[in-house]
Amino acid sequence: MMETTSFTVPDITVRKNVGLDHAADFTLPQPLERYSAEDHQTWATLYRRQCEMLPGRVCDEFLAGLEALAIDADRVPDFARLNLKLAAATGWQIVAVPGLIPDEVFFEHLANRRFPVTWWLREPQQLDYLQEPDVFHDLFGHVPLLMNPVFADYLQAYGLGGMKAKDLGALPLLARLYWYTVEFGLIDTPQGLRIYGAGIVSSKSESVYSLDSDSPNRIGFDLLRIMNTRYRIDTFQKTYFVIDSFQQLFDATAPDFTAYYRQLQGVAAHAAGDVLPQDRVFHRGSRAGWAETDDI
Ligand SMILES: [Fe+2]
Repeated sequence: MMETTSFTVPDITVRKNVGLDHAADFTLPQPLERYSAEDHQTWATLYRRQCEMLPGRVCDEFLAGLEALAIDADRVPDFARLNLKLAAATGWQIVAVPGLIPDEVFFEHLANRRFPVTWWLREPQQLDYLQEPDVFHDLFGHVPLLMNPVFADYLQAYGLGGMKAKDLGALPLLARLYWYTVEFGLIDTPQGLRIYGAGIVSSKSESVYSLDSDSPNRIGFDLLRIMNTRYRIDTFQKTYFVIDSFQQLFDATAPDFTAYYRQLQGVAAHAAGDVLPQDRVFHRGSRAGWAETDDI
């Protein structure tokens, strides 16, 4: 996941990184010797649970990437081994980082086809949820789609766009695009809606909720609509946006965003759960169980 403003380094990140140094670009050699037997066991549990959940739910491109990478089922993968396959397929690399990193560093990595992956793993009591991204979220959730050439290009373009957005003061708008696509996106297929967002794919409960629950909205992808829509970081999403294809996503986001940012300047953002008259509605949410607190 990416963060969008200044942040306090979470306790678990501090604890896991004691004694480790990182370079100016926040990368460090993956400290393989720090993974305990318990870590590998936790990885195996998470991997098994998600793989049981995903057939018929996740898009074919994700499954193809997972298979081609041969991501380890029983231990935290060695990044160097995955990088050989990534480099050959799309020219991407994964780099180990201590945890969340500053926006400008994150964008610079993406722009250079490097995906920052938090090296450490959640603890057994956090199987179902932790607020910070860990190696399971970052690697299992994000990396399989980096094997897909169109998605791989989209993510690099996003990084280049991020570097520009920062100068234009438009980061909150661009962050919503990342959130509603890379993290929580759904895709329409002839077999029905499927998941591609890493935030969903790496969560057992949201893998079910996002597709099966009556509660959330499922609305067709619309770039400006998304950039003007708030979101949730503390609950499941109230709205999921559905793309028709990765090519649609790439094409819609190819133009320079400067004019879009100008258009949205000073316009009140939609609430996370709003349904608008012009929306292409796949499913109108029942709103059951929605949190009353403010969206981000
Ligand atoms: Fe993420």
